[in-house]
Amino acid sequence: MIGNKTLTMIKPTAVEKGFAGPILAKINEAGFKISALKLMKLSKEQAEKFYEVHKDRPFYNDLVGFMTSGAIVAAILEKENAVEAYRQLIGATNPDQAEKGTVRDLFGTNIQANAVHGSDSNENAEIEADFFFSKLERF
Ligand code: CMP
Repeated sequence: MIGNKTLTMIKPTAVEKGFAGPILAKINEAGFKISALKLMKLSKEQAEKFYEVHKDRPFYNDLVGFMTSGAIVAAILEKENAVEAYRQLIGATNPDQAEKGTVRDLFGTNIQANAVHGSDSNENAEIEADFFFSKLERF
């Protein structure tokens, strides 16, 4: 069913700092079902493709470099109105502006290393979930 799914990545700095477990715990506590999960390192080509919509932005090359600098955790999360619910849980893109207690407030370092990515629409959630996970990897 479209509209009950979002895609998250826990970014390299957060994984490196040991925040993957605490972030997944917050996701569970907020009532999301984790229906797919993997720890992996993106190639340059994969990171470029994932963030293709930002390719004309000044931060694109740095973002690709950062996202390939270490392991990430990718996950499909399910809940009613998942895209919006997850964006509420993670807070504003810039951790300095993220509401207190949100994932980016608690675990973010800066606007690039902002702990997690979350899909921005139902359409992109489907595209991003397909980017990371085959049917065999979803439960
Ligand atoms: P994310 O949710 O992964 O989607 C795109 C990413 O680009 C975003 O989180 C930030 O990490 C990064 N980003 C967005 N705006 C800026 C910016 N002004 N400077 C640097 N990085 C940015």
